[in-house]
Amino acid sequence: MDLHLTDKTALVTGSTQGIGFAVATGLAREGATVILNGRDETRLADAHKRLLDLVPGADVRTVAADVTTVEGSQALTAAEPDVDILVNNVAISAFAAFPDVTDEEWTRYFDTNVLSTIRLTRHYLPGMLARKQGRMLFVSADSAVTSDADMLPYAMTKSALLTVARGIAELTKGTEVTVNSVLAGPVATEGALEFIRESAEEQGRSAEEVEAAYFDEFRPTSLLRRPATPEELASLVVYLSSPLAVSTNGAAVHAEGGTIRTIA
Ligand SMILES: NC(=O)c1ccc[n+]([C@@H]2O[C@H](COP(=O)([O-])OP(=O)(O)OC[C@H]3O[C@@H](n4cnc5c(N)ncnc54)[C@H](OP(=O)(O)O)[C@@H]3O)[C@@H](O)[C@H]2O)c1
Repeated sequence: MDLHLTDKTALVTGSTQGIGFAVATGLAREGATVILNGRDETRLADAHKRLLDLVPGADVRTVAADVTTVEGSQALTAAEPDVDILVNNVAISAFAAFPDVTDEEWTRYFDTNVLSTIRLTRHYLPGMLARKQGRMLFVSADSAVTSDADMLPYAMTKSALLTVARGIAELTKGTEVTVNSVLAGPVATEGALEFIRESAEEQGRSAEEVEAAYFDEFRPTSLLRRPATPEELASLVVYLSSPLAVSTNGAAVHAEGGTIRTIA
């Protein structure tokens, strides 16, 4: 299928590895110009090289900036003032026992996972609305709906993204700009695999046992019963970035392996 992305420029935040890198690679495969982002020049240069190995001849630019700070966000938008596709992907996550989470920690989660995406969206939306074309994607998570008690600050931010995306979509009426969020389930990214390795070591179990226990204890309704690969998740984001996906707007699109038991 031709996704009509060859004349598009896409910014994917947090794209030196994991879902962000897979989305950037998928977009580059479709011929889009891709802007990689991360905090570290060396890791960015490495990601740039890996992407070109996977997609020879791809048009790739990089911007080193911490998108969770005002300064980083400003540096990014100064370097890349206009894009056709924005994928808000950066987030922090960790297990946290509710009574131990301080005010500062709640605020840090909000600032990092929500406010950072709002800043970038506020910058890029006017250009998209003026051109009446554009794609905004928010990488949310099944936790937005499952409200996991053991990682509530993270879950709260992922729920907030659904509301923010839907509300911003309301501003696109009469244009072909779309604003959608994607509810990812477990994805076997470098970050997630490292987390499983650490848990396995702490618990004296194998990584396979920890992964199986995760699905039994935390995602018993999962139909897939394994983490998706970054590429499996990215393929949906790439499709939603396409002009062909114009009729999907204001949606929270499920890609969580069937964990959330709803038909609407
Ligand atoms: N993996 C999962 O199971 C899963 C499930 C549901 C939802 N999600 C969501 O998917 C998204 C990506 O997760 P992931 O697992 O792919 O993450 P990951 O493997 O940990 O990768 C995170 C990426 O973000 C970059 N990054 C981190 N902080 C940044 C910052 N402040 N500014 C700029 N770049 C930053 C990192 O680059 P540098 O370190 O080079 O800066 C890296 O490229 C997140 O929103 C997450 O909540 C993931």
